[in-house]
Amino acid sequence: MATPITEIADLKRLYKRRVPKMFYDYCESGSWTEQTFRDNTSDFDLIRLRQRVAVDMANRSTAGQMIGEDVAMPVALAPVGMTGMQHADGEILAAQAAEEFGVPFCLSTMSICSIEAVAAATTKPFWFQLYVMKDYDFLENVIERARKAGCTAMILTLDLQILGQRHKDIKNGLSAPPKPTLKNIVNLSTKVGWGLEMLQTKHRSFGNIIGHAKGVGDVSSLSSWTAEQFDPRLDWAKVKKIRDMWGGKLILKGIMDPDDARAALDVGADAIIVSNHGGRQLDGAISSIRALPEIVNAVGGQTEIHLDSGIRSGQDVLKALAMGATGTYIGRAFVYGLGAKGKQGVTDALTVIHKELDTTMALCGRNDVKDVNRDILLTDDAFYRYRGNW
Ligand code: GLV
Repeated sequence: MATPITEIADLKRLYKRRVPKMFYDYCESGSWTEQTFRDNTSDFDLIRLRQRVAVDMANRSTAGQMIGEDVAMPVALAPVGMTGMQHADGEILAAQAAEEFGVPFCLSTMSICSIEAVAAATTKPFWFQLYVMKDYDFLENVIERARKAGCTAMILTLDLQILGQRHKDIKNGLSAPPKPTLKNIVNLSTKVGWGLEMLQTKHRSFGNIIGHAKGVGDVSSLSSWTAEQFDPRLDWAKVKKIRDMWGGKLILKGIMDPDDARAALDVGADAIIVSNHGGRQLDGAISSIRALPEIVNAVGGQTEIHLDSGIRSGQDVLKALAMGATGTYIGRAFVYGLGAKGKQGVTDALTVIHKELDTTMALCGRNDVKDVNRDILLTDDAFYRYRGNW
């Protein structure tokens, strides 16, 4: 019998064995020194929980809503570039697992499976994440494609107009599909399961882009795409333009500062995501969980506040909710599952996180995730002093 999966780290171990090094490294890297990448997880560990007892725990609920949509727990699958390189048809499998679990799935612009391919393989609407490209024809077209596919929300990413440098991606020559260099061939020869499945799918390059955008040199390279295509002139006026082009629910991702949170409010965002892109963009930024309290103080109650970056457990989810987030996202945690075991691995990741969330909530003396607040935390003042008074 296979060893049971009891924590996200189990999936990560299997993932590392099964997936080519360049894609493992792509997932598991932060920019430059990786300080922010490390802080995102270690800061969650500084938050302590308040144990309560003798509270009726019989009927517990983790259900809630994110942007008005019912969710089994307030944990969405974050948009992750190149997910279809972690496992053949990765975006489709992750979307199907999310749909069955009852949580939102968000497809990245830089996905391998296209918007249309994911829509054809799912029955519930998913969300679409947009990067703003210089080519406005492409932009209008991709927004129209998301609308046609029935996407119910757009996540507009604001913190990646230029790409943060992750050393390993350069050293590995990251591309989709991998180039047949000696180094890659040697590594791929140890990843037979991954390769055989990849040979059976037609989704092996950037499905939303190829055939839709013009003027890019190397179509297999994420760094070429971003350097040549992403619009460095993106500002709040353009954000408003894109809001109007889309016309539907809008979530602004990459907010780390109360002033930017207020600007997002002016745009009329339905939600913001407190995010430093998983520590992949500005190295030296504070962790998103540390940034959260001040942003909650600034705009809490006026828009939904979601959080990503650093969540690896249901305890992390609970801590973020207790600090005032109304929704959370997992990126790496579901990618580990996907790379390890395909769709079942994503379900395993969601199951682990749900159980940890539910049990921790109960042991903190709460039986509804909607009633969780700062009262369940025992956190040193220094945690907040980092960013001033809370
Ligand atoms: C893209 O979103 C990346 O972080 O590589």
